[in-house]
Amino acid sequence: MSAYFADTKAVAHVKPKRVTKVAIITEEAIAGKAKSAMCSACHGADGNSLVPMYPKLAGQHAEYTAKQLKEFKSGVRENAVMAGMAAALSEQDMAELGAYFASQKPTPGNGNGSELGRKLYFGGDPARGITACIACHGATGKGVAKAGFPVVANQSVEYLTAQLMSFKTGERNNDRNGMMGNIAKRLKKNDMDALAQYMSSMK
Ligand code: HEC
Ligand code: HEC
Repeated sequence: MSAYFADTKAVAHVKPKRVTKVAIITEEAIAGKAKSAMCSACHGADGNSLVPMYPKLAGQHAEYTAKQLKEFKSGVRENAVMAGMAAALSEQDMAELGAYFASQKPTPGNGNGSELGRKLYFGGDPARGITACIACHGATGKGVAKAGFPVVANQSVEYLTAQLMSFKTGERNNDRNGMMGNIAKRLKKNDMDALAQYMSSMK
């Protein structure tokens, strides 16, 4: 009886993994790999950057990555380094790079978790008008590709904190309808630190 259950569990565990792998290694991703060499110095060959200030791209949604590249190029998202990197990329290059990094497995983030961060992530703070992050970024921090909600799990604490601060000050304002800015401007520094520690520890 117990052996039977153990077997079923093993199969149930392996199957979804296999399906995902087959679904994401596309021709587009292979073409993207060939174009990713110049990204590897900062983002790592497989999109797992070793320097925390450089965001991880591994496992991020292809559509989101392509959107960021397009906006770095146009200046809608301002960053001097990335503007230079994106300048020569065509929309097809951006789609292929997005597909390649989406197909890579992210390594765990450097966060230690945080009880305050967990509470804000799942419950927000209605009294302060802070919407729960789970509404868009999901229970495991994987976001929703089609809706443009990025993966926040596995990312470094430093990068997550920097982006929340950047949305708060309005330096980053490429979020549709200001949906991140409206939330970030209500967060205090210690809320951001706690949220970053929590999100980075999500798997
Ligand atoms: C010299 C270092 C460097 C190189 C090389 C580089 N990047 Fe970046 N990248 C950065 C930094 C720094 C940021 C964070 C920008 C910010 O703070 O807004 C970034 C951010 C990004 C983001 C946004 C990630 C997110 O979660 O929003 C994407 C996508 C990206 N880079 C893709 C690429 C691609 C594709 C290449 C190669 C064509 C590349 N980068 C090359 C330094 C680099
Ligand atoms: C209504 C939906 C929504 C809610 C709620 C929301 N976000 Fe976001 N978030 C977004 C969108 C959309 C983006 C990407 C904007 C863009 O297109 O560049 C984003 C981006 C981010 C990023 C940057 C990711 C990266 O790779 O650069 C972080 C960090 C983040 N959100 C954290 C949070 C936290 C923490 C909360 C809760 C306090 C939260 N979000 C609540 C929609 C949401």
